[in-house]
Amino acid sequence: MNDTDTSSSTGPATALVLLHGFPLDHRMWDDLTGSLATDLQVLAPDLPGLGRAAVPDGEPSVDRSADEVATLVEAAGHERVVVAGLSMGGYVALALAERHPGLVAGLALVDTKSTADEEPARANRERVADEVESSGSVEAVLGMVASLLSDESVRERPDLPGVVTGWIREQQPAGIAWSQRAMAARPDRSDVLADVDGPVVVVVGEDDTITPLAVAQHMVSTARDAELVTVPGAGHLSALEAPGPVAAALDRLLWRAAEATPQSPETP
Ligand code: MLT
Repeated sequence: MNDTDTSSSTGPATALVLLHGFPLDHRMWDDLTGSLATDLQVLAPDLPGLGRAAVPDGEPSVDRSADEVATLVEAAGHERVVVAGLSMGGYVALALAERHPGLVAGLALVDTKSTADEEPARANRERVADEVESSGSVEAVLGMVASLLSDESVRERPDLPGVVTGWIREQQPAGIAWSQRAMAARPDRSDVLADVDGPVVVVVGEDDTITPLAVAQHMVSTARDAELVTVPGAGHLSALEAPGPVAAALDRLLWRAAEATPQSPETP
């Protein structure tokens, strides 16, 4: 699928696409999917190099990930979808909105940011990529688990750190390295938000220290039609820590997208 194929699409969204964070895979959406009220098809792919997805050949890039998502959506028979991306998934969602604008009928940016990395963060990603590659182990990224979850979530779900650690241990080191380099190379996409042809919701865990409230507010201020949802007590993995409230935010986005579509069926 390319921009030309989708730029003239104006029909209703027929699926919800969920793009996971790093260094995780589609399983982070399982609880949320069960809480959704929508009867649209839900697609939760593994992004390149993670979960069951192969590590791509060629230059690491979130554009490549976005193009793979567009191909998958088209293969599933959808011309317009609502897309939700958490953190790295948000970077891919923004790339999708820029590269395949006609495909995106609504956008949820969850615990993510639209800006590029500063140089120290980029250098750190390269260092981590080199380390996991040379050691053949994911050990170098296991330390990040503590910063992904809020204290409150861990108090209420003491199993969560172990669950997330287990998922990370199952990733391929080469896929982790590819993802880090892809994220390091991504551009600032703040201006993409003003051009999204549909509603936007920005969701942020109240206790997200990686992409905190101020980062979410920046995205809301640059988008044309955005709402902000703060998730009480959740950290950076709000969709995992508080699946009910995040599912409710996505259900509302789907309703707004349907309302904004001329051909939409009657909505409640
Ligand atoms: C994520 O949760 O996907 C990561 O925090 C993204 C990143 O490393 O920028």
